[in-house]
Amino acid sequence: MTPTDQIIRGRILSFRHRPEGPEDTGAYTYLEDGALALAGGHISACGTWDEVRAGAPAAPVTDHRPHLILPGFVDTHIHFPQIEMIASWGAQLLDWLNSYTFPAELRYDDSEHAAAMARAFHDLLLSHGTTTAVAFCSVHPGSAEAYFAEAARRNMRMLGGKVMMDRNAPEGLTDTAQRGYDESRALIERWHGTGRVGYAISPRFALTSTPAQLEAAGALAAEFPDCPIQTHLSENHGEIEATRALFPEAPDYLGVYERYGLVRENTLLGHAIHLEPREIGAMAERRAKPVFCPTSNLFLGSGLFDDAGLRGCGIVPGIATDVGAGTSYSMLATLAEAYKILQLRGQALHPLAAFDWITRGNAEVLGLSDRIGTLAPGSEADLVVLDSTATPAMALRVSRAETLAEELFALQILGDDRAVAEVYVAGAAQLDRAAAQGRDET
Ligand code: GUN
Ligand code: ZN
Repeated sequence: MTPTDQIIRGRILSFRHRPEGPEDTGAYTYLEDGALALAGGHISACGTWDEVRAGAPAAPVTDHRPHLILPGFVDTHIHFPQIEMIASWGAQLLDWLNSYTFPAELRYDDSEHAAAMARAFHDLLLSHGTTTAVAFCSVHPGSAEAYFAEAARRNMRMLGGKVMMDRNAPEGLTDTAQRGYDESRALIERWHGTGRVGYAISPRFALTSTPAQLEAAGALAAEFPDCPIQTHLSENHGEIEATRALFPEAPDYLGVYERYGLVRENTLLGHAIHLEPREIGAMAERRAKPVFCPTSNLFLGSGLFDDAGLRGCGIVPGIATDVGAGTSYSMLATLAEAYKILQLRGQALHPLAAFDWITRGNAEVLGLSDRIGTLAPGSEADLVVLDSTATPAMALRVSRAETLAEELFALQILGDDRAVAEVYVAGAAQLDRAAAQGRDET
């Protein structure tokens, strides 16, 4: 057995399955004076402080009390090359793409720029408590190279891929069916399964790919069945109309992707807001995963995701920031907007379900819940430490909280990166904010 490297002490919270409601205490473990033993970048024990300490009496201890320790957050849909154009004004999806997004992505043909932005991107994720993300890179293979190199340097479990797009985009931002295939394949061979990195086959969306390119993406998907596929689906009415016009033979938008073998259990379909009954049935049958992007859907005025409706059909949705249409890197801020959207749908998102969603739930969507997303022994030691009293407003609210759920809801509605006291990646502290709290090395 690998000897214990360190013990992390604090209030431990980890989910086993999605809580059915406030009373479903069997869905999670909560330990008021809990601890994790870490060994070789993994969690080797999770229990009460007394139990874990007894198992490793000499190991150094970092004491995060009174903070909460959870699995690191998982963001299932984000755009790496959009970090410089987040918060761009006044447009809906298609003109927003043309006016702001494509010009920003053009800059990623410069590898030095891509490398500098990859550093900034990973810093931003970690400072917001996110330890795993699935990102779209730009069309340039160098952008994916920079993204993966930075993830590997930090030993982070990150997924992503270069977007494939061969029409309806400016010159300089398109590949061809063959080049998209060749470049993606080379990146898969170089990066998929290297360290903790995984490759996601990434046809951007139906509007920016010719049938020939979707066919090439489908060929890649067939060759690499364990590579996730990520794309966009039914985000905006104009987008849906344009897709129907470009693919008149398809039964609907999802049917375009189905035709090319792109809809399967490890397919992530960003947005999936305006769906036909046939599409919902096909998504359920193929066990594909829609991804709810609340801050983005409000920012672009796209629409209101139907979480309960999809779950009622046996579908398991992810939740994500979708930066740069998304307006925050924080999965806590994302949950706040999710709560408000679902309120408009008459679907109140309970804080226990919410925190399960951004940890274990999203890990399950990625097929990774045996590695990340929980604090179960054997999992990789990606952790976030949350201070629910990080701001004066939070401290006041939490001073009146009588239950864990009330405290979590304050974090969900008022929290952001200020609530992130520390982050661990494979057992290594990243922010060094713990230094300010005093480490007990005895
Ligand atoms: N659909 C195709 N590309 C994009 C993108 O970059 N952002 C969003 N929100 N939707 C898209
Ligand atoms: Zn997106």
